[in-house]
Amino acid sequence: MELREAIGTRRSYRYLDPDRPVELEKIQRMLEAARIASHFGNNNAARALVVDRHSATQEQIDSLPSPVGGFQIQQAPIVILWYVEGTAMDYAADRLIELVDIGALGYGPDRYEELNNTLVPVFRKSADALKGPGMVDMDLGQAVAQATLMAIEQGLGCCCQGSANWKKVEKAFNFGEQQRVVVVQTVGYPAESKEAGGQRPRQPFEQLFQLNSLANPFPRSQAVVEELTRDRFFQAPAKLPGREEELEALRQKYNLPRAGMI
Ligand SMILES: Cc1cc2nc3c(=O)[nH]c(=O)nc-3n(C[C@H](O)[C@H](O)[C@H](O)COP(=O)(O)O)c2cc1C
Repeated sequence: MELREAIGTRRSYRYLDPDRPVELEKIQRMLEAARIASHFGNNNAARALVVDRHSATQEQIDSLPSPVGGFQIQQAPIVILWYVEGTAMDYAADRLIELVDIGALGYGPDRYEELNNTLVPVFRKSADALKGPGMVDMDLGQAVAQATLMAIEQGLGCCCQGSANWKKVEKAFNFGEQQRVVVVQTVGYPAESKEAGGQRPRQPFEQLFQLNSLANPFPRSQAVVEELTRDRFFQAPAKLPGREEELEALRQKYNLPRAGMI
C-alpha cells in the first residue's frame, strides 16, 4: 500500500478479531517504526510494553482502561502500553553529544568545549522537568503514529485508549516511579471492513491551520485536494451505506451489549 493511501485509510479500528492471533514479527515492525521516530534531543524516552492478552494475568487485563466500550480491550489480541521512560532524560546531555559526534548537528571545530559551556549544563539542569508531560509525550505521539502506519500497512487495525486511572495500570504491570503510561493501543486484525464505515468527520481545514497570522487561514488549494483524492488519500466520508448493518452483525457475532456505547 502506498504511503498516501495508508495515511488515508488509517482509522481507529474498535472491532478486532479476538480469535486471530497477531504474529509477533508484525508487532516488531511497529516497534521498529516507533524506535526510529523523531525524539526530542534523540532521547528515546518513548517506550512500549507489549501485552499478549492470552498470557497476561486477569488483574492486568482488568486494569486496562475501557472508558468507551470495554469490549475493545477484551477482544484485542495485543494491547500496547505506550509509556515515557523518565530516566532516559538523565542522559539527555549524552544524547546531545552523540548527535554532534555523528554529524547530525553542525558544530564548529571547538564543538565539545562549546557544547559543555552551553547546552550540556542546560540539559543536565532540566532533566527532571523534561520528564513531565510535554515534549516527551510529543515523542510518544510520534512513535505511536509511525507504529500505527506500520500496522495499517500490514493489514492490522489499532485503536488508542485513554484512561482516568493510569496508576491502576502502572501498578498492575509493575511500572516504576519514573515511568508514565500515556496511552494504550489495542492491536489486531480488524473484524470490520477496511473502510470501517468511512472517514470520520474533521473540523474544516481552514479552521485548523493558518499562515503567518492566526487571523489568516492557510490557503487550501483545490488542485492538491484533487491530487490527494486521486491517490486514495481522501476516502468516502462516514457514514457509508451498510454501516449500521455491519455494526449489528458485529454485535451479534461477538455477543456485544446492545445498550451503551459500543
Ligand atoms: C490519544 C488518543 C486516545 C484515545 N482514546 C480513546 C478511548 O479511550 N476509547 C476509544 O474508543 N477511542 C479512543 N481514541 C480514538 C478516537 O476517539 C478516534 O481517533 C476518533 O474517534 C476519530 O476516529 P479515527 O481515529 O477513526 O479517525 C483515542 C485516540 C487518541 C489519539
